[in-house]
Amino acid sequence: MNNGALKVSASPLPKIDPTSAFQSFEAWKQDVQQRTQQMLERTLPASDALPVRLHEAMRYAVLGPGKRMRPLLCQAAGEAAAAECETLDRVGAALEMMHVYSLVHDDLPAMDDDVLRRGRATVHVQYDEATAILVGDALQAQAYITLSQTSLPAAGQTLLIKELAIATSSMGMVGGQMIDLSSIDTALSHLELEQMHRMKTGALIRASVRMGALCAANSRLNLDSLDRYSTAIGLAFQVVDDILDDTMNTATLGKTAGKDARGHKPTYVSMLGLKQSRNLAQQLVDQAHEALKTLAGRPDRLHGLADLVINRLC
Ligand code: IPE
Ligand code: IPE
Ligand code: MG
Ligand code: MG
Ligand code: MG
Repeated sequence: MNNGALKVSASPLPKIDPTSAFQSFEAWKQDVQQRTQQMLERTLPASDALPVRLHEAMRYAVLGPGKRMRPLLCQAAGEAAAAECETLDRVGAALEMMHVYSLVHDDLPAMDDDVLRRGRATVHVQYDEATAILVGDALQAQAYITLSQTSLPAAGQTLLIKELAIATSSMGMVGGQMIDLSSIDTALSHLELEQMHRMKTGALIRASVRMGALCAANSRLNLDSLDRYSTAIGLAFQVVDDILDDTMNTATLGKTAGKDARGHKPTYVSMLGLKQSRNLAQQLVDQAHEALKTLAGRPDRLHGLADLVINRLC
């Protein structure tokens, strides 16, 4: 007989899948950022491991507050391709280590000579120049160690390692940095500037998306569409970075504003001016959205990340 008492169900509440389609973009983003942070904490050598100074400095460089854009792109492409979450977390951590290595070296006196990064002293200021060089070197190696620790079959791991190596090689990120540093006080053609930006920043962003998709065993995702998407946002990302350097203040950026003009760097702002640079960034993000229309799977996270690139301008 029903005595009116509330009947408590014995079955547990359904567990919310963190990658659920029903999660808001903001909640998804925070979740990925948090998981990336945890994976980085776990995969970086402990700060009391010898040599202590080097490991402390590596952790200082990586664990500071970054946007984690590359892990987010990897996760979004991987989720669309139905890759396993743990693998994506690990690959995202490897991408972030590689990115931070590039930042630590970019800030060195021999390169952009910056004292502030992510709102804190740069590694060579906090520690010293030799340590900063070694932090970059060690993070690069650590990225490959991390890629080799996924549960993917050997052939899959090799593919990922190759993607990352090519993207950051002299034909990609490092080559782009060389062009950047040799272009101080010179006038680049539009095509040369575009090539430099595609190499120094676009290549790793493109690899982040491709590597996410490659984590899925039998992905039905169209790599051509993903390439068009990631090539467009890769360039947009650096165009926006150039604009922000000119328009934002140091406190908001967490890095020294106005460095490009003071360092006589050719940028989209110096070449096209602010208005046209903003238009170009918007066009590139539109192109990225367009590319997603031909992608099988659920591209809404990728869509949201393209918006994030441009929304930084507001
Ligand atoms: C800055 O990258 C350097 C560029 C390649 C433009 P981010 O803007 O992603 O920097 P963090 O990781 O959030 O600090
Ligand atoms: C850095 O470009 C690109 C790489 C680190 C590969 P920038 O020199 O414009 O980056 P920020 O403005 O110092 O972050
Ligand atoms: Mg630079
Ligand atoms: Mg710089
Ligand atoms: Mg910049």
